[in-house]
Amino acid sequence: MPAPSVSVRVPAKVNVQLAVGPSRPDGFHDLANVFLAVSLYDLVTATEAAGLSVGVEGPGSEQVPTDDRNLAVRAARLLAEHHGRPADVRLDIVKDIPVAGGMAGGSADAAGALLACDTLWGTATPREELLAICAELGSDVPFSLVGGAALGRGRGERLTELPVGGEFHWVFALADGGLSTPAVYRECDRLRGAAPVAAPEPDPALLGALAAGDAAALAPTLANDLQPAALSLRPALAETLAAGAAAGALAGLVSGSGPSCAFLVDSAPAAAALVAALAGSGHCRAARATTGPAAGATTIDSHA
Ligand code: C5P
Repeated sequence: MPAPSVSVRVPAKVNVQLAVGPSRPDGFHDLANVFLAVSLYDLVTATEAAGLSVGVEGPGSEQVPTDDRNLAVRAARLLAEHHGRPADVRLDIVKDIPVAGGMAGGSADAAGALLACDTLWGTATPREELLAICAELGSDVPFSLVGGAALGRGRGERLTELPVGGEFHWVFALADGGLSTPAVYRECDRLRGAAPVAAPEPDPALLGALAAGDAAALAPTLANDLQPAALSLRPALAETLAAGAAAGALAGLVSGSGPSCAFLVDSAPAAAALVAALAGSGHCRAARATTGPAAGATTIDSHA
């Protein structure tokens, strides 16, 4: 008999709007963060074991720590503490979401580990408690659990689900190497200097375009306040964005803190054509076609 195990699939995200407010006393920034989950997934498998361990495979996995800094390990530990039980589990993560790519890969692994362990251990944690544990693990982790589309307020952890009227096609240009999220926020603060920063607000035109499922209307509203900082730290991203625009994207932007770039296109064939153009452009490591909204963390296999 193989040991009981549970596998959970968790999506990447793109921030269609990321409005960043002034830096707060706790070092975080208040956000208006419009998340859209996209069909690029990590797989997290939790298997009954004595003690807690993790293995990571897939592109960039050598950059992911396998000690207590690993977000999936922290998630399992926090859930175990919450229920006063030992954190006995083997976690195996198969990465397809780029590591440190601005697509919430680490957050996805944390949300996946939480759901997988909760099912494996039979702890049946109420949704609200799971979401609170997610928020403790990181600002983007609640959204990885929920998926779909949502507005994140506070540091991004306070979610309101958003209606989406259709499927959007996105192409991602994946970069070599990652960018550190704290470093990108610091650069954003440095570039802003002493200038006053407005309170972050969602763009009604963008929310309307999402609700209508209208890619042509969504394109001109895409906005990321972290983009100047990501471009400052990684100037070559300007060429990646230009390559996508020249190859026919409706619009493009840096995804979250980068360095992945996201391009909105109007159809699956347009996405395939853009993938081919970007892959041969020399401006990215790889290009991937996706659709959004995608479902949040989902159990796909359970032998618990
Ligand atoms: O919450 P999370 O661990 O994902 O955040 C990583 C880092 O990103 C934080 O330590 C902080 O430097 C920055 N951050 C921020 N404001 C936010 C979210 C993240 O400054 N709203």
